[in-house]
Amino acid sequence: MIGVFDSGFGGLTILKELQKSLPEYDFVYLGDNARAPYGARSFETIYSYTLQAVQALFDLGCPLVILACNTVSAKALRTIQQNDLPKIAPQNRVLGIVRPTAECIGEFSESGHVGIFATPGTVSSESYLMEISHFSPNLVVSQQACPFWVPLVENGELDSLGTEFFIKRDIDALFAKDPAIDTVLLACTHYPLLSPVIQKFLPKGVRLISQGEIVANKTVDYLKRHPEIENRLQKTGKTDFWTTDTVEFFEKGAFLFGKKNISAKKLTFSY
Ligand code: DGL
Repeated sequence: MIGVFDSGFGGLTILKELQKSLPEYDFVYLGDNARAPYGARSFETIYSYTLQAVQALFDLGCPLVILACNTVSAKALRTIQQNDLPKIAPQNRVLGIVRPTAECIGEFSESGHVGIFATPGTVSSESYLMEISHFSPNLVVSQQACPFWVPLVENGELDSLGTEFFIKRDIDALFAKDPAIDTVLLACTHYPLLSPVIQKFLPKGVRLISQGEIVANKTVDYLKRHPEIENRLQKTGKTDFWTTDTVEFFEKGAFLFGKKNISAKKLTFSY
């Protein structure tokens, strides 16, 4: 199975596109809802939570794990790939979502000025700035940390007045940094749920990019290039859902993300 991990519900926006592009494959989704949000947590905490999740997904039978969370991809992926994977499961793979997005974001902009909304953890890691500079060295990139957006989504506040206030405030802050931005990347898997409100306050003509499709296309491509992983994947088209919070909490929240009538299972980590 392909493991898909996020701190909470956000990775469901990536899972949805993966399921569309790879309908015959089996997936296991794990949301660490009991410990979300990760956005403002330290490197050490995010790394240790993520390592537990990756190990759990390996144990559930996933030779390939996609970290469908930018905060986790930015802060924990490299250490896990370089230090842990060779020891715990050298035959398995863990992929993130920052690099595949950074590879192609430059293609969407005509002005050569791009804006990024992300969690404080992703912004301070500067992962996007570093990765984009390899692929589009001339692209001007401005970042805006949005510390309230994930908690708003996790609490189902998708279009309230409070949500509008924080979204408008962060959009204004981004465009004050660079009014020439013509493309905005939602570099957090929770944010597509806020797209209608974001669109409402974005300057006219600015393009809004979510990562789901990008990650799905890159995964299809990855599987073509890695038959040794692809051959180990089960293909019956089913998806299992696991959460570290209560099953009821997860099922209710997942409903907001378009996952209706799912039955989740609870995973308990020993802290
Ligand atoms: N969905 C996560 C991301 O893409 C949010 C992380 C969090 O703050 O829990 O960054």
